Amino acid sequence: MEKREQLSSRLGFILISAGCAIGLGNVWRFPYITGQYGGGAFVLMYIFFLIIMGVPIMVMELAVGRASQRSAALSFNILEPKGSKWHYFRYFAIAGNFLLMMFYTTIAGWMLAYFYKTATGKFEGLDAKGITNAFGALTSNRDEMIFWMILICVIALVVCAFGLQKGVENVTKFMMSGLFVIMLILVVRAVTLPGAVEGLKFYLTPNFTKLGGKHLGDAVFAAMGQAFFTLSIGIGSIAIFGSFIGKERSLTGEAITITGLDTIVAIVSGLIIFPSTFAFNINPGEGPGLVFVTLPNVFSAMPLGRFFGSLFFLFMTFAALSTVLAVFQNIITYSRELWGWELKKSVLVNGIILIVLSLPCVLGMTDWASFKIGGKQIMDIEDFVVSNNLLPLGSMVYLLFCVSKHGWGWKNFKEEANAGKGVKFPGGGFAKVYLNYLLPLIVLLIFVQGYWALTHAK
Ligand code: ALA
Repeated sequence: MEKREQLSSRLGFILISAGCAIGLGNVWRFPYITGQYGGGAFVLMYIFFLIIMGVPIMVMELAVGRASQRSAALSFNILEPKGSKWHYFRYFAIAGNFLLMMFYTTIAGWMLAYFYKTATGKFEGLDAKGITNAFGALTSNRDEMIFWMILICVIALVVCAFGLQKGVENVTKFMMSGLFVIMLILVVRAVTLPGAVEGLKFYLTPNFTKLGGKHLGDAVFAAMGQAFFTLSIGIGSIAIFGSFIGKERSLTGEAITITGLDTIVAIVSGLIIFPSTFAFNINPGEGPGLVFVTLPNVFSAMPLGRFFGSLFFLFMTFAALSTVLAVFQNIITYSRELWGWELKKSVLVNGIILIVLSLPCVLGMTDWASFKIGGKQIMDIEDFVVSNNLLPLGSMVYLLFCVSKHGWGWKNFKEEANAGKGVKFPGGGFAKVYLNYLLPLIVLLIFVQGYWALTHAK
């Protein structure tokens, strides 16, 4: 295998890791789940989980990646005590990466389709009902969805084939910067729409008695899942970027920056969506279609709407693509490390597998629409398995690996996390007790009660 590439700069690393984190989780999943769980109270729970779980676990993933200079394929083999079995986690991690992509590519395809449709004026002259119908038409058209999904995969695979610096890093830097600018413009339009205030109230005033009519336990479970999803932690897709950097900066500061950027994008996308849903009388609990049935209305109601609308969906596609790129990069590096494949072979073989595995999500909305488990279609099942199961459980593996003396161990982890300039990981007895006992217990409890709440939902 040729020499391992590194990222060219700190900014590149921050933006590429933030690019992995920031994506559909922020602009599509966060608003729709927040809408379903009644707004402000859910937002608070979500931020709480980001702080108490997201940041420490991100530091741990980055530390494992940086210390081993490998992806999840081999990182545990390098760091684990001799004779232990931590490295079996690699199968879980890779399954998580594939499963995440199995529905992610389809939604990313919707974004690209919406870019095309907005740019070519397909939504012009439609009222709110027409816009809702247009979304229904897309999500019931199997061939169209497959076309956009494949296009997303092919774009991402071509970028990955160019290698880390020339491909993934350069493209992501450009995409992320553009995204921040366009979102700020849209916030200004959304919050000045007539009726926007009701949306802001819904979004920013916590009301723990409403929760969109859901059980509190169910909401807590969903908020935890959203926190893990938005950071993509627990399956080694953040760890890999730790493996591409040197030891100039300590990792806690980097994790705070990445989580901070991710949270800003999520909060700002809520500031765009909720004023708009209320302004156009759309139910905030609408579900996965929320951004798609809401935003074209906003663009119709603003000067140069077609221009801004096209830019918005273009950058949303970019946000999704930056995650797809990061996860593909992880999958591609994984096969190269494990089996010594050349870059081109890894891109090609994994690309084909990814496309085939993405088909059930599309079919679940069309030909196989009657297939449901617990009332959920294939896309929702895949999302549930990843967000509420694989990511939290995988995160616990990283956590236990870093704190346990049977794993990599607290001392090694702290040394790695604190190497370089910047914020240090909290030392002291409390941090150790918290991470050793409290955090795994919290995750376990939320897990158990989340399943209980789901199965006992009215
Ligand atoms: N963290 C990724 C996102 O938010 C999965 O889209």
